[in-house]
Amino acid sequence: MTILVTGGAGFIGSNFVLDWLRQSDEPVVNLDALTYAGNPENLASLDGDARHIFVKGDICDRALVDTLLSAHKPRAIVHFAAESHVDRSIHGPGAFIKTNVDGTFTLLEAARAYWGALEGDAKAAFRFHHVSTDEVYGSLTPADPPFAETNPYEPNSPYSASKAASDHLVRAWHHTYGLPVVTTNCSNNYGPYHFPEKLIPLMIVNALAGKPLPVYGDGQQIRDWLFVTDHCSGIRAVLAGGKLGETYNIGGWNEKANIDIVKTVCALLDELKPSAEGPYSRLITYVKDRPGHDRRYAIDARKIERELGWRPAETFETGIRKTVQWYLDHPEWVARVQSGAYKDWVSKQYNG
Ligand code: NAD
Ligand code: DAU
Repeated sequence: MTILVTGGAGFIGSNFVLDWLRQSDEPVVNLDALTYAGNPENLASLDGDARHIFVKGDICDRALVDTLLSAHKPRAIVHFAAESHVDRSIHGPGAFIKTNVDGTFTLLEAARAYWGALEGDAKAAFRFHHVSTDEVYGSLTPADPPFAETNPYEPNSPYSASKAASDHLVRAWHHTYGLPVVTTNCSNNYGPYHFPEKLIPLMIVNALAGKPLPVYGDGQQIRDWLFVTDHCSGIRAVLAGGKLGETYNIGGWNEKANIDIVKTVCALLDELKPSAEGPYSRLITYVKDRPGHDRRYAIDARKIERELGWRPAETFETGIRKTVQWYLDHPEWVARVQSGAYKDWVSKQYNG
């Protein structure tokens, strides 16, 4: 048996592939276009491991996807590949429509043709697992209950709108064609291999470099943080036992305001790598807010717990300490991802 993973060189995808192969010998075919966010170095520990077959390619390339399905005959597709950064979607939404909408459509059509030709047990066992986000539900006020699977879709950014569109396609391919799909909508992840354009890794690498820590608006926006390996275990649980056509919210029961996240990162760095210049919090700088910035996300993760027995293993305190320590232990990884195109992004977003 084999699974096909898309986007497995990105942050969550690479953690998923590493985690999968730590727990099982079932091979992974990993299709990734290696955009700025894809980094084969995340998977260096699998070099020479026959259980990991890496293919550089685009999910929009139907012929390539067809070839991979017929050559490897996977029992499941776990679909991570996406443009994932909200700020980039504001600067340039086109790539988000291309990969997140067209790419998901291409995969669904290829999966439908492949699954349609399967028979017996192989046909019954096949799954298309779509990895999505809580951002499709829009923004909560402080008094609202957390997002449940039944909340209406109210996406507010080009990124979340493109993910919402992909979720709708996946739903329709199940209802119309019977494709055996499951979808997970997860909250903000953090952990090793997180690209330093996102809040937590950006704050760690900027602090260590003595650069400003840019906090958007008043810093009181709330996100619900989940350590990345807990997201991986949630996906495994839904892939194994989720009901066909259903969606499952995955979250950490960890609502935190951005400014508190930044202060926590500063305090951990003060403890683990004190700066001669004084506390890292001196670098906190309030900057112009993100256009259309969602105020609060929070996940009601009771369905996945009730039906599949999943709960996060990490608390925020254990997960954030591991994360800060990982960045301290991997300065070469940080230096390499910060070269080249990364510099252009930082200058466009924070100086432009
Ligand atoms: P990421 O940006 O770190 O990685 C995306 C990966 O997809 C990269 O390896 C990239 O090279 C690849 N990719 C992009 N376009 C491609 C294409 N056209 N064909 C093939 N590969 C392509 O993203 P991430 O943070 O790891 O997120 C992975 C998935 O999880 C996304 O679908 C995202 O919407 C979802 N998600 C992310 C979070 C989060 O907090 N990061 C939370 C919930 C859901
Ligand atoms: O909720 C799940 C989503 O979480 C995923 O679907 C997205 O792929 C992922 O990128 C993430 O989106 P966010 O926009 O919440 O993550 P980001 O790390 O970009 O920002 C987190 C919060 O921090 C957000 O309120 C914006 C704020 N922020 C971010 C950056 C990069 C700042 O204040 N300063 C910054 O420099």
